[in-house]
Amino acid sequence: MRRVVVALVVSSAFALISVATVRAQLPGGSPAARAVKNPVASTTASVTAGAAAYKKYCAFCHGGAAKGDGPLAPQGTMPADLTDATWVRGSTDGEILAVVMEGAGPKFDMKGFKGKIPDQDAWHIVNFIRSLGPKPAAR
Ligand code: HEC
Repeated sequence: MRRVVVALVVSSAFALISVATVRAQLPGGSPAARAVKNPVASTTASVTAGAAAYKKYCAFCHGGAAKGDGPLAPQGTMPADLTDATWVRGSTDGEILAVVMEGAGPKFDMKGFKGKIPDQDAWHIVNFIRSLGPKPAAR
């Protein structure tokens, strides 16, 4: 019994640590998110689906052309230009997905969409964003 309790405590402590590393999508990016590979190939169909989902979930803040100039961004916030080569929170597909799902720390002017956007659609959005700007060195 005692051994089971110890094992439980150890494994839940580990689970907490891994949640914490995935959760913090901060300036500088995250090695944990960087290790996540995009499971959805960037086909025309995926980019088209991503454009539609972007329009629905992201455009009112980031703008129709993703320049960071959406008309309904909360006052005082500055949504990122998603077409330039600057990725404050990391430039890999996994890191971009982490921002979408967990939000943009540390201020979280952008909240995460976990539970609101299905994983598949979130990857389509990543593929769409990727189709817009200059290609970063690392994916
Ligand atoms: C409520 C407005 C809002 C919505 C909706 C929103 N964002 Fe953001 N987003 C922001 C703001 C503001 C920032 C910059 C936060 C900061 O710098 O502190 C940001 C930052 C980002 C970043 C980080 C860029 C970088 O260089 O670090 C990415 C990527 C991003 N948004 C993608 C998306 C996508 C994709 C969607 C739709 C699924 C979305 N956002 C929806 C407001 C929003």
